[in-house]
Amino acid sequence: MEAYRKVIVLENTQLTSDMYEMKVELADLPQPGQFYMLRAWAGVPYLPRPFSVCDADGKSLSFLYQKTGKGTEIMAQMRSGDHIDILGPLGKGYPLKEGNVAIIGGGVGIAPLLYLAKNLEGPVDVYLGFKQEAFFIERFKPHVRQIFISTENGSWGHKGFVTELLTDSYDAAYACGNMLMMKAVKDKIDGLLYLSLESHMACGIGACLGCVQKTAQGQLCVCKDGPVFESREVLFDDY
Ligand SMILES: Cc1cc2nc3c(=O)[nH]c(=O)nc-3n(C[C@H](O)[C@H](O)[C@H](O)COP(=O)(O)OP(=O)(O)OC[C@H]3O[C@@H](n4cnc5c(N)ncnc54)[C@H](O)[C@@H]3O)c2cc1C
Ligand code: FES
Repeated sequence: MEAYRKVIVLENTQLTSDMYEMKVELADLPQPGQFYMLRAWAGVPYLPRPFSVCDADGKSLSFLYQKTGKGTEIMAQMRSGDHIDILGPLGKGYPLKEGNVAIIGGGVGIAPLLYLAKNLEGPVDVYLGFKQEAFFIERFKPHVRQIFISTENGSWGHKGFVTELLTDSYDAAYACGNMLMMKAVKDKIDGLLYLSLESHMACGIGACLGCVQKTAQGQLCVCKDGPVFESREVLFDDY
């Protein structure tokens, strides 16, 4: 079994009131949509936390994260030169398809999508939905054909949900966000669609069964069998 590695934090930048980007020194080139378990603490909260690969260049890896609780609060305080424990790359990422492609992300769900856009041959249209503060737009621009933006308060782009702008005119589509948003995407896209699911995770490697989800193929581990699933495998019964 792969072990945790201790890596150096190169940068940890605050982007908005609660969004941060952490760059660490690591020569991995993971598959877009894969994730790492990160642990920046020795005691409480005990368990590592899962984070998607936001960018990678063969020398460093970036994670885009939202400060939501104890673990991410500790991460937000880290400085260049600090060390963090890391396990990965883990899980199954997004299969890379050719042709006209749509990428749809909501809030922190945009985290795995920049690296995905960089790895697709395209043309790629990206749909980014935010509550109030839009971020990371400039980072997508060099890698995509068009960007559609929405904010729920109308401060940037379309006022409302970005799925209202989405058309079913693509050869393949990829999404990451909360389940309600992904259900809205699935309702719009009849064709090939890949969704990255979230779940509480303890081990990240299929050992604890803490992340089991009911799917069309039965009970599957989000960490090992996903986090990316084809949309027809995902059950939205509770949404
Ligand atoms: C495969 C995968 C990839 C992820 N990638 C990213 C990423 O790139 N960037 C990012 O910011 N976050 C990502 N997450 C979510 C991230 O792991 C959690 O936000 C993080 O674990 C919170 O840790 P915490 O200690 O700060 O908060 P906690 O104190 O653990 O929780 C704070 C709040 O968030 C809720 N919460 C915690 N974990 C989850 C979860 N997995 N799903 C839904 N609600 C949760 C808790 O119930 C609580 O309300 C990912 C999750 C998965 C499963
Ligand atoms: S997190 Fe332990 S089985 Fe998935």
